[in-house]
Amino acid sequence: MRDEFDEPQPAVETNVATGATAAGAPASLLPQVPAGIQLLNRDFLTDVANIPDESIDLIVCDPPYGLGKDYGNDSDMRTGEEFLAWTRGWLELAIPKLKPSGSLYIFCTWQYAPEIFSFLKTKLTMINEIIWDRRVPSMGGTVRRFTSVHDNIGFFAVSKDYFFDLDPVRIPYDAITKKARSRKLFEGSKWLELGYNPKDVWSVSRLHRQHAERVAHPTQKPLEIVERMVLASCPKGGRVLDPFMGSGTTAVACARQQREFVGYEINESYCAIARERVSAAAAPSAPRRAKAKTQRPTEVQ
Ligand SMILES: C[S@@+](CC[C@H](N)C(=O)[O-])C[C@H]1O[C@@H](n2cnc3c(N)ncnc32)[C@H](O)[C@@H]1O
Repeated sequence: MRDEFDEPQPAVETNVATGATAAGAPASLLPQVPAGIQLLNRDFLTDVANIPDESIDLIVCDPPYGLGKDYGNDSDMRTGEEFLAWTRGWLELAIPKLKPSGSLYIFCTWQYAPEIFSFLKTKLTMINEIIWDRRVPSMGGTVRRFTSVHDNIGFFAVSKDYFFDLDPVRIPYDAITKKARSRKLFEGSKWLELGYNPKDVWSVSRLHRQHAERVAHPTQKPLEIVERMVLASCPKGGRVLDPFMGSGTTAVACARQQREFVGYEINESYCAIARERVSAAAAPSAPRRAKAKTQRPTEVQ
């Protein structure tokens, strides 16, 4: 597993026997993804046994939500107890892969968050519930209840000694707010100079069709959300697992932030998109950033 992980890979899945792509192009002509980034067109549940136990610093999981989305397969057609049993099943397989200092973020919705979080609390320590406010514009919508505009994200850790690096994700104050907090009491405070700890409501626009980041995946997550998780919860050079990588957002964050990555996706065309995205993010001309200094979620200071 380790040797395979370290090999640079072609940016599109190849025929293992011939080395050719589905389109017939030799793999050597295709854009490469960096060593340390492993994008697998495989089923996580049947392949997870290949990951050594306690080898992963961070799991970012964005599974099917049980709401009937079309991912070109029937993976989101389970609902109710069937969905929850499936969720418990793959979480049981994933959790042993975490190091003792490791942590896990799981995206879900209000419909199933209570059951999923209750289950995870029997296995891990709950650190936060993060609310992703998708900044959905006000429209007519439902008239029988309040409009739902958020996703729930559970943040869990293996132990109280979990890795957490606040500095790369601190949010700097703007000059006006900083001035307003210039009382003697605050002088010399690290948070005033370097910025404050992001709150647990992350207000980030969903990726609508015109968004520059958007690719052909129905539930692609914004890079700035996932990149914050990677920066805060995985040490540089550490290893991240994404069991349901979709268009490869977590892989892109890892390529940009020098973390190793292993991800699974059963839809071949999403895998190809992930490879294209990682390849572009790793290109020498791609913008680099050591810290999350741009595109911060908007927060009330
Ligand atoms: C919510 S999407 C992930 C989106 C991703 N975070 C992104 O930003 O593009 C869930 C993905 O899991 C994939 N999937 C479903 N069951 C799977 C399985 N058993 N193994 C690997 N991938 C699976 C689906 O095809 C779908 O693309």
